[in-house]
Amino acid sequence: MKGIILAGGKGTRLNPLTEITNKHLLPVGREPMIWHPVKQLVSAGIVDLMVITSTEHMGDVVNSLGSGRRFGCEFTYRVQEQAGGIAEALSLAERFANGERIVVLLGDNIFEYSIKPYVREFEKQEKGARVLIKEVNEPEHYGVAALDEKQILEIEEKPNKPKSNFAVLGCYMYDNQIFDIIKQTGPSARGELEITTVNNIYIHKGQLEYSIISGRWTDAGTFQSLNQANRILLESDNKILQ
Ligand code: G1P
Repeated sequence: MKGIILAGGKGTRLNPLTEITNKHLLPVGREPMIWHPVKQLVSAGIVDLMVITSTEHMGDVVNSLGSGRRFGCEFTYRVQEQAGGIAEALSLAERFANGERIVVLLGDNIFEYSIKPYVREFEKQEKGARVLIKEVNEPEHYGVAALDEKQILEIEEKPNKPKSNFAVLGCYMYDNQIFDIIKQTGPSARGELEITTVNNIYIHKGQLEYSIISGRWTDAGTFQSLNQANRILLESDNKILQ
């Protein structure tokens, strides 16, 4: 299993903090934000990691993360030359994945507890994909899962009228069908290859499973959510709870 951290994007909602640096290098608790997804993947036993970011910020990202030795992992770095959505960024990892299963983390997603138990559940899955979900107060800001007791029926990206309070979080697990599936998708109304489109294809194949996570979660793309991310990681001293 390989890990992929997506750390591109302009982070415009955090201007002026992101005028001269990448969102994922801003401090959260006592460390740069991007250290958190690294530690999450390592906590799940995934140590072969690809980090994808923009040309502009790659130098600083490499300066912060280095070879991986301090984290107990190995990094491969890949440049995303233009922002085209999460699925477009992920497609850059095809050769790195080399047919293995992958766990993808969005670099600004902070999870209080380790993702390890959910990765174990994915390992037991015969095939397909797995997403993590959690009930949130403002689901319209996220991908939202419509679900029954057994399965997710549909995911809608930032819907005006959410069909549930369950947000689909920025941690996605895929088998080796993922890259062919991305190639089947086209851009959304906002001109991006959406990860939600990809996940809906797995749903139509009957191959998308989910875990409801315990503990706190937030993304860190706005001042309010960055503040929440800081609170979570300051309380734990940037340790990931097991
Ligand atoms: C992305 C995904 C969305 C997901 C969110 C989690 O949104 O498109 O489905 O719920 O990450 O952080 P973004 O905030 O990048 O627009």
